[in-house]
Amino acid sequence: MSQPLGDITPEEFQDAAGFLTDWLSNYLSKDSYPEPVLSQVEPGELLKTQPTEPPLKGQNPREVLEEFERELSRGLTHWNSPRFFAYFSISASGPGVLADFLSAGLNQQAMLWRTSPISTELEQVTLDWLRQGLGLPEVFRGVIYDTASVSTLHALATAREVTLPDVRMKGQAGRQLVVYCSEHTHSSIDKAVLMLGLGWDNLRKIPCDENLAIIPFKLAEQIEEDRKNGLFPCAVVVTTGTTSTASSDPVDAVADVCRKAGVWLHVDAAYGGPAALVEEMRPLFKGWERADSIVVNPHKWLFTPFDLSVLYLRDLDRLKQAFSLTPEYLKNDEQGRVLNLMDTGVQLGRRFRSLKLWMIFRCFGLEGMRQRIAFHLELARYLADQIEQSEHFELALPVNMSLVCFRWKGRSNEEQIELMNRLNQGGKFFISHTKIHDEILLRCAIGHIRARHTDIDLFLAELASLVEKPAAV
Ligand SMILES: Cc1ncc(COP(=O)(O)O)c(C=O)c1O
Repeated sequence: MSQPLGDITPEEFQDAAGFLTDWLSNYLSKDSYPEPVLSQVEPGELLKTQPTEPPLKGQNPREVLEEFERELSRGLTHWNSPRFFAYFSISASGPGVLADFLSAGLNQQAMLWRTSPISTELEQVTLDWLRQGLGLPEVFRGVIYDTASVSTLHALATAREVTLPDVRMKGQAGRQLVVYCSEHTHSSIDKAVLMLGLGWDNLRKIPCDENLAIIPFKLAEQIEEDRKNGLFPCAVVVTTGTTSTASSDPVDAVADVCRKAGVWLHVDAAYGGPAALVEEMRPLFKGWERADSIVVNPHKWLFTPFDLSVLYLRDLDRLKQAFSLTPEYLKNDEQGRVLNLMDTGVQLGRRFRSLKLWMIFRCFGLEGMRQRIAFHLELARYLADQIEQSEHFELALPVNMSLVCFRWKGRSNEEQIELMNRLNQGGKFFISHTKIHDEILLRCAIGHIRARHTDIDLFLAELASLVEKPAAV
């Protein structure tokens, strides 16, 4: 009879874990500036480091991890560098990393309350803490998903169910549902409309004003016209903190339109939401307390290792109406008395993501979280001031939240991109760009937990030295 092989031994686990904690505690330390921030490997280069055949014999886990560090880590783009300023700068903080490690070891799967009471209940606890921090009314209850794209998909699926209560049985049956947003809304809305089978022809991009914010009366006109034409206005999506420029839509005025028209209001605060922890930023969010659903991503600007997105609903039962379905083999005694997370979305199984939020709240406190966000806002203003005084650069837009959009003065779009590429290839920093009214803007997104004034100073010095020396031909 063959012998069971089992897992690695506790000694091997400890040895490998010791190596890993030493490595990660250096990687996450205040003096850590891993470079190049943007990985400089060529496509396919890493494939060549690995055998094409699967490894036949097992190896010591520490050796495997050492090989990862030696051979593969150059394929990392360092999202966890304080000099990562591209897209939206994010950070996996120490408490969040520890929670993910613990969660992997515990392997909780919270499809039903009974399959992980702790994961189900900590989700309720932490999301209520966050709700209070954000200043949202008590009526909102949250659910955790992996990403904002998935949160928004669930919000719009719920809006569809509310607009057509018989959609579960009949499908759309020829009825044309319409979703409204602006050209600055994130592409996850387009994808959700696609996946729900609503059709892109039924996604209306409402015009924006000079602040890149949706114009409420244009929205109202469009909804009215669609209704007159026999269509079914289903949901409006507004954003507080758009992806390109961190601009914000006037949520309160849009909430008036939605209320009058009886249309679902979804607020995409995936990036910007954490700014609401800071009292002085609250006016930007005015009206979001009137929304039907709101998405906030702690994995963007709340020090939470990817992934963790929160969807708040004014009426959680509506989400459950859209998604609950219990096959015989999952029926249980607690049903009706507890929240079974499988009733809140497409997926049956759920990771123990709330443990990350719990650790972060417990280790930093709401006050610590607020101070960190406020510091990022201050750093963004500091960078903007320096740019305004610079002989080479100019602000392209007023600073929104922690995002600074700027341009190399008097230069073409091609030159902006060429400068960005040279900076990114240099390896010390990583930024990205966007295009507004046909102009390329360079984006510097601040939001890493270890970012400091010196990082901003060095960033500007690097940019200045690049514009002062001509590009190699
Ligand atoms: C405003 C906004 N909404 C949604 C998303 C999508 O986020 P996720 O990657 O969590 O799906 C992003 C991503 O940057 C975003 O900026």
